[in-house]
Amino acid sequence: MTKDPFSPSADRYAGGMKYRRCGRSGILIPEISLGLWHNFGGISPFERSRDMILHCFDTGICHFDLANNYGPPYGSAEETFGQIYRRDLRPFRQELFISTKAGYDMYPGLYGNWGSRKYLFESLERSLARMNLDYVDIFYSHRYDPETPLEETMQALVDIVRSGKALYAGISNYPAEAARKAYAYLEERDVHCLLYQGKYSMLVRDPEGPILDGAAAHGVGFIAFSPLAQGLLTDRYFKGIPSDSRAGREEYLKSAQITPEVVERSRKLAAIAAERGQSLAQMALAWDLKDPRVTSVIIGASSVAQIDDNVAAIRGPEFTKDELEAINGIIGQ
Ligand SMILES: NC(=O)c1ccc[n+]([C@@H]2O[C@H](COP(=O)([O-])OP(=O)(O)OC[C@H]3O[C@@H](n4cnc5c(N)ncnc54)[C@H](OP(=O)(O)O)[C@@H]3O)[C@@H](O)[C@H]2O)c1
Repeated sequence: MTKDPFSPSADRYAGGMKYRRCGRSGILIPEISLGLWHNFGGISPFERSRDMILHCFDTGICHFDLANNYGPPYGSAEETFGQIYRRDLRPFRQELFISTKAGYDMYPGLYGNWGSRKYLFESLERSLARMNLDYVDIFYSHRYDPETPLEETMQALVDIVRSGKALYAGISNYPAEAARKAYAYLEERDVHCLLYQGKYSMLVRDPEGPILDGAAAHGVGFIAFSPLAQGLLTDRYFKGIPSDSRAGREEYLKSAQITPEVVERSRKLAAIAAERGQSLAQMALAWDLKDPRVTSVIIGASSVAQIDDNVAAIRGPEFTKDELEAINGIIGQ
């Protein structure tokens, strides 16, 4: 358990963490960021959440990714973060890069979902209150809303940045064409889009093509979520489905998805990783990061040991042509 009061390591930026620039901007973020989607909500043990967040800080991971509805229950991951911030991290606010988002289902009624100005403003106020923050570093429109004019959602981001409640704006899960329009709208109003956040892993390669190309062309960084395919690109399910795992809890990953074929595919990938001197998780993260347009990968974790395993990914060897071909042969590209 982390000592109380928390005293961060003096060497937190000297432990080997690497940093990349978010597109055309002044901001560097760690190659590995921590996401609080699972394992930080009200149902998760608080001290374990605190250990993981403070361990990240000590390891040079200064970027924490949140959203209004992370939990469960909704909002509770922000509350957990807010408690840890108030207790341990407040003196270090200037070293932290904290995100939140609005765009998915959050509260009942007509104004707690999608991309209206009303939802984005109201949701951010509530996120800041839960996290005990005066501002977030980046606020994302969490998904494209085909029913709301893009201009309304983007103008809300512009006005939020101008209000000082977020320093930068970002978008997530936008189709490529809507993303291009969003970058242009923001740019014309002197609010450069800092990051596009998209799902990207060896098993989900959709961003390759217009999403990554479009972000790079507009000087926007790309930050990958679910780089371990929620645990499928790790050894988590090699000996069955642990009851404390994401699939064991039947959350966004279902036990029905852990088929013998899926496990076999991961075992084959793990064999290549072993030849590289890596765990499968480390190789999966290194695979995302081999593209210099990928600014960071946002990992989830349920223990400090997983974080340490994942952080070692940045010290792995370059991929050889043969390794990439062998991986492609397994993942079917
Ligand atoms: N913008 C969006 O729409 C969006 C959507 C999804 C996620 N995100 C962001 O991306 C973050 C990461 O997503 P994710 O949690 O799906 O990421 P992930 O890194 O693909 O999966 C994380 C899970 O993999 C397992 N794991 C991690 N490291 C491991 C290791 N070394 N060995 C064995 N198992 C390991 C853990 O599962 P167990 O919990 O079972 O131990 C962990 O919870 C989220 O927290 C959120 O911030 C954004």
